[in-house]
Amino acid sequence: MKDLFEKIYKDKGPLGKWAAQAEGYFVFPKLEGEISNRMKFQGKDVITWSINDYLGLANHPEVRKVDAEAAAQYGSAYPMGARMMSGHTELHEQLQNELAEFVNKEAAYLLNFGYQGMVSTVDALVSKDDIIVYDVDAHACIIDGVRLHHGKRFTYKHNDIESLEKNLERATKMAETTGGGILVISEGVFGMRGEQGRLKEIVALKKKFNFRLFVDDAHGFGTLGETGAGAGQEQGVQDDIDVYFATFAKSLASTGAFIAADQEIIDYLKYNLRSQMFAKSLQMQLVVGALKRLDMLRTMPELKQNLWKIVDALQSGLKNRGFDIGTTQSCVTPVYLKGSIPEAMALVRDLRENHGIFCSIVVYPVIPRGLILLRMIPTATHTLQDVEETLDAFDAIRERLDNGTYKRMSAALIAAMGE
Ligand SMILES: Cc1ncc(COP(=O)(O)O)c(C=O)c1O
Repeated sequence: MKDLFEKIYKDKGPLGKWAAQAEGYFVFPKLEGEISNRMKFQGKDVITWSINDYLGLANHPEVRKVDAEAAAQYGSAYPMGARMMSGHTELHEQLQNELAEFVNKEAAYLLNFGYQGMVSTVDALVSKDDIIVYDVDAHACIIDGVRLHHGKRFTYKHNDIESLEKNLERATKMAETTGGGILVISEGVFGMRGEQGRLKEIVALKKKFNFRLFVDDAHGFGTLGETGAGAGQEQGVQDDIDVYFATFAKSLASTGAFIAADQEIIDYLKYNLRSQMFAKSLQMQLVVGALKRLDMLRTMPELKQNLWKIVDALQSGLKNRGFDIGTTQSCVTPVYLKGSIPEAMALVRDLRENHGIFCSIVVYPVIPRGLILLRMIPTATHTLQDVEETLDAFDAIRERLDNGTYKRMSAALIAAMGE
């Protein structure tokens, strides 16, 4: 019989196999200093474009003050136990009510982490006779929620309404035999490439098909829509989203998440969400911190305005200089370049070491072979000077990519990898 660990000793997995070349630099980098537009990486100052602190709240003095006071008052233990047992408080309830109002839903329920909460919500919404239809590019937490489902599931091509319609036809036929219902899941904003889920068109299909819509709006909450209520508000269909999800990990610059829906649905989830029934309640300091952040979202529209000033400057600057930023319709700003993985590594080193620009890099197998995706997250803390410096740096690296400099620099690695 094999030792269970044998496979682990042999194969570190699709990302783990690059650990020797990448760890500490391309993956698990250590960004130091206070969270802001400029931080330190390996002792050097860098303009940071890889942190989802969209509204600049992470290090806002008012937020830091409330966080510190809440930590002093409550510590990190209170309340102890799961919500249902001993972890429920007045402030948890207040935060839920305020979140529900903010996203224009009847009720909301807190989740300890977005990832775990999404998995659990998908699990709780369906039974084995139901059918899930979801976007093929959905975030891992949606995919993992679907994995728990004992019934049928279909993916539709990314943001492709024709494909969704075809799959809804199949799902409808199947539901007629199983006697179940249909759950459609999309993201509000797809975090890798920045395009919005086509929520308006998905909602329009409700006229033809009988389904409920669940939207993960991690990147839309706080950044899109007139009041920051997200992609549904932006597209004028918030009322038609049956279950709305957002995390505190992006615009609210914290930890935690929530779902919002009709009161009856939240009442059901409250008693059936295993991630909340069998896990410790969200700590009070996070609840108090989220109340403060939400208040700032409501009362300081300038946060979102500052964010969009930077988004517009960065995205239009990139386009004007001839960069391909794909199909983004949000703050997420991808820049597509052509090159091999070793070239991408040399390019990112050049960006960080010589130009002081820190952004995330995505390569095959996440995107097609031969493409390099530099993913940038503008925030309200960035300045127009940051944008100008970054655009100049991008011009410089594109020139070196085109004239073969990175190919020469990484020749040994290219040969070793057979690129
Ligand atoms: C689309 C999406 N959904 C869910 C999550 C998970 O949220 P959390 O970080 O709160 O676990 C993320 C990442 O943070 C995300 O990008």
